[in-house]
Amino acid sequence: MFNFEFQNPTRLVFGRQTISRLKDLVPSGSKVLLTYGGGSILKNGVHKQVREALQGFEIVEFGGIEPNPRYETLMKAVELARKEKIDFLLSVGGGSVLDGTKFLAAAIPFQGDEWEILKTTGGVVKSALPIGAVLTLPATGSESNGSAVISRNSTTEKLHFWSKLVYPAFSILDPETTFTLDARQTGNGIVDTFVHTVEQYVTVHQDSALQDRIAEGILSTLVEEGPTALSHPNDYAARANIMWCATQALYGLVGVGMPGDWASHGIGHELTAFYGLDHARTLAVLLPGVWRYQFERKLKILAQYGSRVWFLDGEDRWVASQAIDRTEAFFESVGVPTRLSSYGIDAKEAAAKIRARFEVRGAKQGEEGTLSPEDVEKIILSRA
Ligand code: NZQ
Ligand code: ZN
Repeated sequence: MFNFEFQNPTRLVFGRQTISRLKDLVPSGSKVLLTYGGGSILKNGVHKQVREALQGFEIVEFGGIEPNPRYETLMKAVELARKEKIDFLLSVGGGSVLDGTKFLAAAIPFQGDEWEILKTTGGVVKSALPIGAVLTLPATGSESNGSAVISRNSTTEKLHFWSKLVYPAFSILDPETTFTLDARQTGNGIVDTFVHTVEQYVTVHQDSALQDRIAEGILSTLVEEGPTALSHPNDYAARANIMWCATQALYGLVGVGMPGDWASHGIGHELTAFYGLDHARTLAVLLPGVWRYQFERKLKILAQYGSRVWFLDGEDRWVASQAIDRTEAFFESVGVPTRLSSYGIDAKEAAAKIRARFEVRGAKQGEEGTLSPEDVEKIILSRA
């Protein structure tokens, strides 16, 4: 295990009817910018609950933040917030609204070209407005981390930044708000959570006994509870367990002291940038390919994963290979197809575009940077 320091400053408020806690959590006297997406919160009553909880606060609203939040849209919110002299940001929605709001937090006080926040992966962020979140879609872990991923239409880029200054001060996680998620978003959330967990766990093995067990606990819970959330969308226990899994997957504990292999995310962001594919769908396509391509490197931990999560018994190579097949079948079973052809994407074209982009950027993937642009091209071709 590597040396590490761990701090997660986000206060998590979990459970039924917790939106009412907003009145105590938002600093009194704040002028609040309430950010939201395409309107799901207006239909399912979440917006009403938020407004009721915040009676007496001065609130300005900014809606229309799209999935894979766009820089062009967010810059309109930056302008509004500066004009209105906003001093607290409240994100109400899924990971896209929250990621967009993190960008606002950093961009509103920023002097200079705001895109530099992304180009420097957050390096230029020296101050940020405080953020609170009401999360309505368990998937990204954005509710208790300092990451955000922002897309820019004009350049077909999707870039990530991180700053300790944009962790939400608090996040409200009421599983009842997730009852209205359709099967596509529910399946996407399960897959995103699954992949966040394995990208920190199925790496070069690092004597990380406790982290492994935490990861295996999250994965087993997703396998057990995922089908129930899909077949019974109003099942509180299933929704609550999945919501807590999603938070825990990127809370920070799974990956401490370990190298992470974020290749599926790194390549997946390009598939979204070029083809608009849902984030989780890119991961369902890529992860089995990333694993098969690095089978020898990951053999030991894949065999452990197969034995502990899928209860496979046998010789290591067989267990490891079966574990990949089981993972793929699980993604399909929660309604997330695992091949590019299922989404009408031409693998050859995608592979060539992404290889070229990684060559220009000099980007290497994998926990030890062993995947060159040429390797990435081969992985994508294997997922036709
Ligand atoms: O926009 P509205 O109308 O709210 O509808 C949304 C959207 O259409 C809908 N939705 C959300 N909550 C709902 C609901 N519909 C019914 N009932 C509810 N309770 O779901 C759709 C998708 O929402 P979105 O926020 O885009 O999904 P998700 O939470 O999966 O976020 C995806 C974004 O997060 C980034 C992804 O790249 C992508 O841009 N990620 C952020 C990470 C982070 N900050 O750490 C890590 C992740 O790996 C990921 O990259
Ligand atoms: Zn993700």
